[in-house]
Amino acid sequence: MKKTRHFLSLADYSKDDILNLLRRASAMKRGEPGKGPARPLEGKSVGLLFDKPSTRTRVSFDVGVYQLGGHPIFLHSRDIQLYRGEPIKDTARVLSRYLDAIVIRTFGQEIVEEFAKWSTIPVINALTDLSHPCQILGDLLTLQEAGLDICTMKAAWIGDGNNVANSWINAAKKLGFKFVLACPEGYDPAVPIDCDNVKLTRDPIEAARDANAISTDVWASMGQEKESAVRQRAFQGFQLNREILNYAGNPVFVLHCLPAHRGEEITDDLLESEHSLIWDEAENRLHVQKALLENLLSR
Ligand code: CP
Repeated sequence: MKKTRHFLSLADYSKDDILNLLRRASAMKRGEPGKGPARPLEGKSVGLLFDKPSTRTRVSFDVGVYQLGGHPIFLHSRDIQLYRGEPIKDTARVLSRYLDAIVIRTFGQEIVEEFAKWSTIPVINALTDLSHPCQILGDLLTLQEAGLDICTMKAAWIGDGNNVANSWINAAKKLGFKFVLACPEGYDPAVPIDCDNVKLTRDPIEAARDANAISTDVWASMGQEKESAVRQRAFQGFQLNREILNYAGNPVFVLHCLPAHRGEEITDDLLESEHSLIWDEAENRLHVQKALLENLLSR
């Protein structure tokens, strides 16, 4: 019997795996058929188990499953027995008997890992406190479409070393592009920076210098709202704005996974500018996740 493959972190995927997923996502977006059936999820059900709010991830997975011929089932964690203390290992084994794959948005990365350990169906990480790999697949597809070589570009991150930043680091380690993060002290990424093409600085200008892609995210992520005032102070000077863009390469594209706090981590002017790819970035979540679902469920 084939071992079930999951999508928990980009660290588990090779460079070829990532590039093949992006190739297929791009073909799907253009409406090109793959090698397999036109509706690869026909007769299959995919659970969407969410512990946190979501607009893009929830809707793009729901619509993506439907477009592939499958049946999405949204499960808020508070509506199932998991919320009342049923162990993850029991939930995973039971849901594996009904579903063909499960998409999970939750808190600790260890939760999706524990789920995957007991699951006989693919588990997809739809955001944990540690990582957001689906977001980075969408971001990479967006930059490819804009004409960048995602294996040789210089990309930058300005702001919190959060789950999205962590997944950017994982992507840079796999693909080899240069990636410089500017994070205030105390807000460094959790993923180790142990390769020559990734660098951490305290200087947003150094990060932005000659970059062709610059990304940021909110200063207080979901669950960190109580720290908001402290974070507001810590992140002064780490705003993505026109002044920072003066140091970037040409062309330079601006990304934001959304939702954004205009006037905090990014200016409204830049978010709405000709440099911004945010709407394509949001759309591309749908295409990369369809490629991922097809890949995991056609094995
Ligand atoms: N970028 C992202 O994951 O958006 P949602 O939180 O709306 O899903």
